[in-house]
Amino acid sequence: ADVFTYDPGFTSTASCDSTITYIDGDKGELWYRGYPIEQLAQNSNYIEVCYLLLYGELPSAEQLTDFQSRVTRHTMVHEQMHNFFRGFRRDSHPMATMVGVVGAMSAFYHDSTDIGDEWQREVAAIRLIAKLPTIAAMAYKYAIGQPFVYPDNELDYASNFLNMCFSVPAEKYHVDPALSKAMDRIFTLHADHEQNASTSTVRLAGSSGANPFACIAAGIACLWGPAHGGANQACLEMLREIGTVDRIPEYIEKAKDKDDPFRLMGFGHRVYKNFDPRAKVMKESADEVLDLLGIRNNPTLQVAKELEKIALEDEYFVSKKLYPNVDFYSGIILSAMGFPTSMFTPIFALSRTVGWIAQWKEMISDPQNKIGRPRQLYVGSDKRDYVELAKR
Ligand code: CMC
Repeated sequence: ADVFTYDPGFTSTASCDSTITYIDGDKGELWYRGYPIEQLAQNSNYIEVCYLLLYGELPSAEQLTDFQSRVTRHTMVHEQMHNFFRGFRRDSHPMATMVGVVGAMSAFYHDSTDIGDEWQREVAAIRLIAKLPTIAAMAYKYAIGQPFVYPDNELDYASNFLNMCFSVPAEKYHVDPALSKAMDRIFTLHADHEQNASTSTVRLAGSSGANPFACIAAGIACLWGPAHGGANQACLEMLREIGTVDRIPEYIEKAKDKDDPFRLMGFGHRVYKNFDPRAKVMKESADEVLDLLGIRNNPTLQVAKELEKIALEDEYFVSKKLYPNVDFYSGIILSAMGFPTSMFTPIFALSRTVGWIAQWKEMISDPQNKIGRPRQLYVGSDKRDYVELAKR
């Protein structure tokens, strides 16, 4: 019989070669195409990072303008898609709506579903990057009973998203450039993260030849779980539930208790065993954004900082190498910007779309690509004969 290596959770199985993102979990390093995340977060912007992830190099000024105009050309969604949104229950979670609507894109954009055609793959990538903010904002507007706001191509990527979320016909939202920069930085920090669960899902779905919209819908579904992208929502809800600094020890004890399934949300990572570089940038950004908005002594931020401090001095978290991850501080920023917790994971999804599609494109053009098909160790019943219903 064949012998297979048993590797639950794929902790030591590489599923592909990739040139896109590098993580050194011991050093706490993350690079996109060789560029450290800190430098990109500081000096670059999301649209440039999208280009970098997709094509491998930073764009020239001309390439950037061209890319930007290709993206803005596709920001609107087919008008008929509005009906699709309206079919959902009004109180649907925006992630539920997004899984459905993004899946439905393959029904609306037939001319970019032929994966054998390089040009169609390219158009699908641009469409996804362009339309995901529109779809996320529409999911939000629908959930709060406000009219959809069309994209505004005069605005940059992040400002346009903020405008689609917060403008109403009666009053145009004034996009503060500093807030839009903070939004853009959140997009950048989430743009790719090598072979995490949702990216592996996209690759696995794509390995069968499924169209890119279907694959990204699968990625969104996987991202939603609280152990993955859903942690940003769960983390802020946890911080609010803790409420005050004096209650932190109680939650630390709960997280350490083996008989209690509770975990500190926004803590721990499969790969980072020293620190998550994204969390560092996010923490600085949280301070900046709250300052900018004139929010002093935000109780949630206080709880977060104190919780981090206490956990990092605790033997349990130290020995298991558990540190705050990207989801620990992002919710504080998003909530200060005015987003409800239900929008945190959709924002993660729209930011990660470029990473998913870059990984998908890389896989499709790899001559080694074959359908993903893990094996198993069968531990079920031996062969046996069927028993008639009356005899059971
Ligand atoms: N709180 C308390 N204990 C924890 C935590 C936590 N947040 N995370 C891990 N542990 C413990 C866990 O109980 C286990 O203990 P033991 O070895 O005694 O059984 C040990 O640490 C190793 O944990 P694991 O679950 O085997 O590690 P993993 O690599 O499979 O899981 C993780 C990684 C991120 C799913 C996990 O740390 C976790 O559930 N964290 C909370 C959810 C979260 O913040 N997720 C966001 C991840 S980063 C962004 C993203 O991926 O979207």
